[in-house]
Amino acid sequence: MKKTLKILAAVMALALVIGVFAACGAKTEEKATLTMATNAEFPPYEFHEGDAIVGIDAEIAALIADKLGMELKIEDVEFASIIPGVQAGKYDMGMAGMTVTDERLESVNFSDSYAKGVQVVIIKEGSAIKSLDDLTGKKIGVQTATTGDIYASDEFGEENVTKYENGAIAVQALLSDKIDCVIIDNEPAKSYVAANEGLTILETEYAVEDYAICFAKENTELQEKVNSALKDLIADGSVQKIVDKYISADTAE
Ligand code: ARG
Repeated sequence: MKKTLKILAAVMALALVIGVFAACGAKTEEKATLTMATNAEFPPYEFHEGDAIVGIDAEIAALIADKLGMELKIEDVEFASIIPGVQAGKYDMGMAGMTVTDERLESVNFSDSYAKGVQVVIIKEGSAIKSLDDLTGKKIGVQTATTGDIYASDEFGEENVTKYENGAIAVQALLSDKIDCVIIDNEPAKSYVAANEGLTILETEYAVEDYAICFAKENTELQEKVNSALKDLIADGSVQKIVDKYISADTAE
């Protein structure tokens, strides 16, 4: 009896030790997840390459996650649902070539800016549209809830603006003459023009926009951590290296 008890105690002690080791092992293997919401129809910032989501934002986010010791998970969602999802805590952050605006600052916080954008107009070659003034009364395509959408609706009237789920669909609508132009950020515009015959870009004087990462208002802890990682990655040239990889010097203006 005594012997059996001793054996039992030894077995239990061993089980405990194994259990503790297993728990420790699991802890070092299992990294916390950093969930980033994006809308991956926005080259060169985020787009699909086979099964992967690649691009400037995806690569910067991967380096940030690395610095924070976290596992990056990218969720491809509609642009319009990024901010609500971040507010609801469904995603830790939103990174989607997203412009910092006063209105958005009422709903979310933003990191420091890591890139700049400017709204441009994509037209068909030979289009009657030669300047911004010519846009009056024309059918303008935009991606829903983007700054392009906001500008177009404000300046040319909501009734002239057709909203599409993403920039690629808007460009398809332009190619098939459903609309007369697309207002979108300059780098994606260049990508779409390069990928499709017969399109060209009308440069505009719209204000230069700052791209940044958004966070829920209450998640200042993550915002600060990401900001400090981003600062390091800008300072050591990593961000510029990624930008240069996707935007060649001859296409960047
Ligand atoms: N910069 C614009 C904005 O913030 C457009 C961003 C669209 N981004 C995207 N990944 N589809 O409204």
